[in-house]
Amino acid sequence: MTNSNNNKPVTSSLSSLPDSPEKLNQLRIKHTRIAQIMVELDTLIYPESQDSILLVCGPSGVGKSTLARHMVDNTLKNTVAQMDSDAGLIPAVYVEAPSSGENDFSWRLFYQRILQQLEGELGMPKSDYGIDTTTGRLVRPHGASGNSLAALRTAVERGLRARGTRFLVIDEAAHIIRQTRRNRLEIQLDTLKSLANECGTQMILVGSYDLYQLVSLSGQLARRTHVLHFERYRQDNDADLRAFQACVQKFQDALPHLWSKELVQHTAALLENTLGCVGTLSAVLTRAAMLAQQDKRWTVDALRRALLTEAQRKQILEEIIDGESAINPGLTRTMPRAQKSPVASQNRSVA
Ligand SMILES: Nc1ncnc2c1ncn2[C@@H]1O[C@H](COP(=O)(O)OP(=O)(O)O)[C@@H](O)[C@H]1O
Ligand SMILES: [Mg+2]
Repeated sequence: MTNSNNNKPVTSSLSSLPDSPEKLNQLRIKHTRIAQIMVELDTLIYPESQDSILLVCGPSGVGKSTLARHMVDNTLKNTVAQMDSDAGLIPAVYVEAPSSGENDFSWRLFYQRILQQLEGELGMPKSDYGIDTTTGRLVRPHGASGNSLAALRTAVERGLRARGTRFLVIDEAAHIIRQTRRNRLEIQLDTLKSLANECGTQMILVGSYDLYQLVSLSGQLARRTHVLHFERYRQDNDADLRAFQACVQKFQDALPHLWSKELVQHTAALLENTLGCVGTLSAVLTRAAMLAQQDKRWTVDALRRALLTEAQRKQILEEIIDGESAINPGLTRTMPRAQKSPVASQNRSVA
């Protein structure tokens, strides 16, 4: 067995325990929230939909990027038969919006990223959508000059249309509008909207609550954009508690020798500490497994050391509460602002 990162054997001097913590990283749990959002997206993505832009927002570490990639992979898998008969088909594309730093968002880089995805390894001649197959350079489309932004845009439009792309997932979508002055905000999203309408491709914008907050700066945009809320699991909801426990169980089952079935009993403390975000849970448990492996045995102390610090947790909680109250003001009434944990207290105790 080899490690795909460096091709060295996975077994290291530390691994006296038979379970490797890396298994946790590779785990993909189809938990309740993921299933709910996928059903909602499936319902809203269809040809001729009026919702040319959909927003998926939720706390960081809830698993949005994982869901986004899974959606695209799943769609490609489900269309495999069709793709065999039509080699040019790419029904779904995932791109990360490039970070703009201090500068304006780079549409050029963004279009280039989309084009890279559209090239794929499939049989359609690239020249069909404006790329020279030998040089990899853009062929000058009619009416636009060379490698200009307009030429790139035309190439993307052609590509999306030629590939029959039903939806394009744009992760880290806040990058598109973060540095934008308010009066340009609508122009940025209109650019995407017109791309969607030109190509019949729905745009799924994925991001943390800041994406929602940016969009809602313009009342007009907020009214015209449908938002899917990828929420954390909440302590004050029994169904959430059960769903979160099922996740902890899956993480426990992935490394049965390491945890010796003692993980699930800490579900309440883990929910509290990770704020009900499965991605954060994965990070905490991976860290705990690494520490246990280093200690050559599992202890509750390893779990305690792996938890988020109270300062980290508090900061994340504040962002979450601001985001939740912006998306759904009703939620704040059931979630007190700074809830003190009886279990995971300041010194990260899980005992
Ligand atoms: N459904 C899941 N099952 C198992 N691990 C997950 C799942 N969702 C997320 N993770 C883990 O959590 C990490 C962070 O998730 P990510 O999707 O990047 O969160 P977000 O984009 O919301 O910040 C991922 O790298 C992955 O290892
Ligand atoms: Mg992400």
